[in-house]
Amino acid sequence: MGEKDLSEMVINDMKVEDLPEILAIENASFETPWSETLFYNELFKAVSVTRVARIGRRVAGYLCANIIIDEGHILNLAVHPDFRGGGIASRLIEEIISVMRAGSCRSVFLEVRVSNETARKMYEKFGFALLGTRKAYYLSPVEDAVVMVLRLT
Ligand SMILES: CC(C)(COP(=O)(O)OP(=O)(O)OC[C@H]1O[C@@H](n2cnc3c(N)ncnc32)[C@H](O)[C@@H]1OP(=O)(O)O)[C@@H](O)C(=O)NCCC(=O)NCCS
Repeated sequence: MGEKDLSEMVINDMKVEDLPEILAIENASFETPWSETLFYNELFKAVSVTRVARIGRRVAGYLCANIIIDEGHILNLAVHPDFRGGGIASRLIEEIISVMRAGSCRSVFLEVRVSNETARKMYEKFGFALLGTRKAYYLSPVEDAVVMVLRLT
């Protein structure tokens, strides 16, 4: 899809009705996808910030994050394979960074598979820097996580 199609994109809070489409994207995107219960819990946690990007009636992407005192944590982000490369994840990240700034976060943290170069490049574009690694953090396949941080102050 081209950049122009982003003018049709709407970003809202995640709702229970979005979960079936979100789970389909999640299953198409990760080796160890989140369960419906994990997403469901995020909808009701006080520290949770969730967003869904829609193009027309379709869910095109989503992001789950938490704000814990002055730390932001990006927990999950995926874009439907049909809509990748069109700037949707970038818009979701911009949105969440602005929520975190407004919420007085000093830093934003995330973990990503070492081999996920697309995501690592994307986060670097937003100024995230390598903080360290967590050994064998992921299962199926077992892989280290890269921990990245964006300082907001
Ligand atoms: C990672 C993902 C969310 C990116 O979504 P997207 O909407 O395609 O991303 P965008 O179009 O906003 O691109 C953002 C940046 O990512 C990087 N990127 C995107 N697609 C890329 C590709 N095919 N190859 C290399 N880098 C790529 C680029 O840096 C890009 O910025 P640019 O367009 O200015 O060069 C999407 O590929 C996805 O859902 N992947 C599977 C799930 C996943 O890995 N989630 C992240 C886990 S932490």
